[in-house]
Amino acid sequence: MDKLTIQADVSCDILLSDKIEELCLYISKIVSGHHVFIVSDDIVAPFYLETIKYLLMERSVAVDSIILPHGEQSKSSDGLAAIHRFLIKNAASRHDYILNLGGGMVSDLGGFAAATYMRGIGYINMPTSLLGMVDSGIGGKTAINFDGIKNIIGAFHSPLLTAIYPEFLTTLPVCELRSGMGEVIKYSVISPVFSNMLSGEFPDIELIMNCCKIKKRYVELDAYDNGQRKILNFGHTFGHAFESGSGFELSHGEAVGLGMLAIARFGNHIGITPPDVGREIERKLISYKMPTDYSKYTDLAAYELCHDKKNDGGLIEMVLLEDIGSPIIARIPIEKARDFLCNG
Ligand code: GLY
Repeated sequence: MDKLTIQADVSCDILLSDKIEELCLYISKIVSGHHVFIVSDDIVAPFYLETIKYLLMERSVAVDSIILPHGEQSKSSDGLAAIHRFLIKNAASRHDYILNLGGGMVSDLGGFAAATYMRGIGYINMPTSLLGMVDSGIGGKTAINFDGIKNIIGAFHSPLLTAIYPEFLTTLPVCELRSGMGEVIKYSVISPVFSNMLSGEFPDIELIMNCCKIKKRYVELDAYDNGQRKILNFGHTFGHAFESGSGFELSHGEAVGLGMLAIARFGNHIGITPPDVGREIERKLISYKMPTDYSKYTDLAAYELCHDKKNDGGLIEMVLLEDIGSPIIARIPIEKARDFLCNG
């Protein structure tokens, strides 16, 4: 079993093990004497819910569960109310715990339910997607979507533990795996230590652990996302624009991959990023069978960019690379970025 501890204002352990029994034993010690409320979705639950329940109950933990429909539509005020009602119906106390068993939707929603029930209860993430294991299950960003705006209502509320069981990835659809690979490639280009360590077909334990180490570093530097943590958004400004511009035909990870390529080329266009950085990102995307051609999305992406909620008086904060492993945060005139997308 590998263990990392994030030392921010609240400490959070990240455990990674290829033995599910070991992870459940660790969880049972944390929650000892209290009730655990598992939040999951209807895709993940049939595979894993009964096993996790059994392993916890075997260690005398009282467990109940709620299963929500999968997908972003559950990450809503209705989804949140469903969890709150479930907790109230089962007389959950301030000392009980939520255990999020699922991908980013489940941990964002279940984490926000934990942040808001009785002014905050403890929770544990057990991510089942690659994106959850390397990014959304770590670091305490919780949120729901509201009035069509993604993650607009939320809170910083750190999990007590993120328990990673890589075996969950064996049942993950390829498109979901690619979505996570977008973030993995991001870590490999923003971090000087990780840049040469990305190889192979399938995300293995070492790869996941390296991503967790980088995420830990940024969360410890800036838990509330006021400065350095923004570097984790490398590729996301253009990426979100491509994602929306494609009408969500592109997965989040594919869009982030294209966003990283576009921002590297834009950085080169404005004299910040050397040309071989873009070529290196393209090589990595190709090696993981990710798309590299964003030309058909640029017009709609340019429109999306102008309506980005982070647009501040015509300027937008973007993460650029001065080299592989050397990210900087810059405020860029949005017109310049838009022109680049439209005219190259
Ligand atoms: N997903 C980026 C962050 O946690 O800051």
